[in-house]
Amino acid sequence: MDTIRRIGVFTSGGDAPGMNACVRAVVRAAVGYDVEVMGIRRGYQGMIEGDMVEMDRKSVSNILQKGGTILKSARSEAFRTREGREEAARQLAQYGIDGLVAIGGDGTLHGASLFYDEHQVPLVGCPGTIDNDLFGTDETIGYDTALNTAIENIDRIRDTADAHDRLFLVEVMGRDAGFIALHSGIGGGAEMVLIPETLTGIDDFKSHIHALMSAQHRSSIVVVAEGDELGGATEIADALRKDADFDRIDLRVCILGHTQRGGSPTARDRVLASRLGVAAVDALMEGHNNVMVGIINGDVRLTPSRNVWSRKKNINYELLKLTQLLS
Ligand code: F6P
Repeated sequence: MDTIRRIGVFTSGGDAPGMNACVRAVVRAAVGYDVEVMGIRRGYQGMIEGDMVEMDRKSVSNILQKGGTILKSARSEAFRTREGREEAARQLAQYGIDGLVAIGGDGTLHGASLFYDEHQVPLVGCPGTIDNDLFGTDETIGYDTALNTAIENIDRIRDTADAHDRLFLVEVMGRDAGFIALHSGIGGGAEMVLIPETLTGIDDFKSHIHALMSAQHRSSIVVVAEGDELGGATEIADALRKDADFDRIDLRVCILGHTQRGGSPTARDRVLASRLGVAAVDALMEGHNNVMVGIINGDVRLTPSRNVWSRKKNINYELLKLTQLLS
């Protein structure tokens, strides 16, 4: 096994609160091993363009508590091509980078697997996405902050919904996964949660909401995952508005959108990101390749990158029953 002397660290895909804390941990752990660090800006795109900067202990001071990512992020089309990945490998060789830590979601890890298969640059991934949809870790960096932001907003919506006896459809992020929706629905006391992991017929949905609003004559909140098969909150609201049975129901839509991506990371995300950043460097130094570090049942675990994006992380169906029971 060749000794690693200089690593590159980058953040890629949708940013997530806690990415900075992870970058900080990677840089400081590497310095502890006497390994040099290059920060690669704008993810794979910056790698292709050779947009890199030397980093040391001081360059990551005072970033632990900041949202976003000081290294910036991007979704690179060029890296999807073989030529783009070849150029990235050329740039890494030119900068003398012989190991990588990639912080991002499934697209990032997917890109990492391809890159490793083609160019064998040692690479360890850190799970960074608000969606929490990565196999191989109980939680991803950014998820807890996004969840708390969603719940805080649902609480605010509850006040105004209650004042007007309105039905609110609140759309949360998560791409094709319902983790934020399910957990913010429970934490925010939603009357119903719609997630892509379960099929809900529009007629069943309508009769459930109708019964809820007629029986209670009060406000209701439905949390809708953006990837739900019935559509987003706007599409669902359009369907309800076309139905005469809903004429007397005062309905509003609120899309929380990118508010869930920003903000200072929670304590939980800071600790997770710090732990995983250090674990990623440890794994690289121990000679692990093409794996993602995660925390499962409290312990650091390594999962082959391929499994991370090809296998599905399941939601806890018991929790779904809870929303029904408690609404
Ligand atoms: O993967 C993170 C995420 O925020 C998803 O929840 C969302 O679907 C997507 O990124 C939005 O991406 P963009 O910021 O490129 O619109």
